[in-house]
Amino acid sequence: MTFLPPLQQIPASIAAVSDYEPFARERMTPQAWAYMAGGAADELTLGENRAAFQRVRLLNRVLEDLSGGHTRQQLCGLELDYPILLAPVAFQQLAHPDGELASVLGASAMKAAMVVSTQAGISLESIAEAAQTPLWFQLYIQPDRDFTLALVRRAEAAGYRALVVTVDAPVSGLRNREQRAGFVLPEGIEAVNLKGMRALPPAIAQPGESPLFGSPLLEHAVTWSDLTWLQAHTRLPVLLKGVMNPRDAARAVEQGVAGIVVSNHGGRTLDGMPATLDMLPDVVQAVQGRVPVLLDGGIRRGTDVFKALALGASAVMIGRPYIHGLAAAGAAGVAHVLHLLRTELEVTMALTGCRTLADIHRELLVLPRAGR
Ligand code: FNR
Ligand code: LAC
Repeated sequence: MTFLPPLQQIPASIAAVSDYEPFARERMTPQAWAYMAGGAADELTLGENRAAFQRVRLLNRVLEDLSGGHTRQQLCGLELDYPILLAPVAFQQLAHPDGELASVLGASAMKAAMVVSTQAGISLESIAEAAQTPLWFQLYIQPDRDFTLALVRRAEAAGYRALVVTVDAPVSGLRNREQRAGFVLPEGIEAVNLKGMRALPPAIAQPGESPLFGSPLLEHAVTWSDLTWLQAHTRLPVLLKGVMNPRDAARAVEQGVAGIVVSNHGGRTLDGMPATLDMLPDVVQAVQGRVPVLLDGGIRRGTDVFKALALGASAVMIGRPYIHGLAAAGAAGVAHVLHLLRTELEVTMALTGCRTLADIHRELLVLPRAGR
């Protein structure tokens, strides 16, 4: 199998983030592509994330004073130049030999914060060493709680500034595209941060037995009390990622989380969930401004960032778009993806008469009307 090496130069034909996709695809194995690009089951939610952005229209405003404008933002202790972060994505060497190390260089060049996955293929310490930008650590609370705590201590010691606890995947989604492609992690790529962990006993249900209920996986699944436990054991702000249900958002805020990430895991967990953008207003209402609300899923344009902010998000995260940049052109590709989105956001703000992020309001959107 021969695959094309990463590009040495970014082709002039790449004008938008989506232009990276074909360049990325031809640099990855079909199996790795199925893992990165795919969603759960029939990929209804994966499609919805994009469709929701496409249903919303923007209203321009003319002759507003744009002098002194900027996109700066405070977020859970970070001073962001612009409200776009890199979402946690596992096993990035599937996209590029340097994996997360290239991503963090790209993020550093663009001064964007990056959220590093528990399942990174590179140690959290090595990524932190290479970083010249703030990092958050995405935590999957593991069945081995002692190991989980040790992992948290490592993240603290390495200088990570917050924990983003992902809670929407107590079981992996049914990834039919991956299954059909026969995806398995290639030799040499593994979740190095989880090495040495006490693993759950293997559970293979006999015919006629429940495949899941009663299994060690669900018996050890994370609950609200584990969140309390974690909060009591770290000095870092704890954000919750994977919240779609406004009631869960309210409960999380009452339990003292520092932020909510409205996410359906890029359509990779429960297929059939609505788009993140469609749930955002209800979550924002439930949170009532008590903590910042972030959104990810389907962001491919600066206009998408604008739409999410207009519906109450404080910032957004991108997943696949920077993985496409990474696969195509390494750190330079990641940086360019961020640059494109940032530029598009600023152009959108200028054309809608928004000087700062605080000027971005719902009145600048034309939302789809029922029955239209
Ligand atoms: C993810 N995502 C994810 N989330 C998480 O909390 N921990 C993880 O390890 C991963 N791993 C991962 C791998 C791959 C290949 C993808 C595509 C996604 C979900 C990710 O953080 C984010 O929620 C989505 O990717 C956002 O959707 P878009 O931007 O990809 O449409
Ligand atoms: C995924 C897991 C690693 O989405 O979060 O593949």
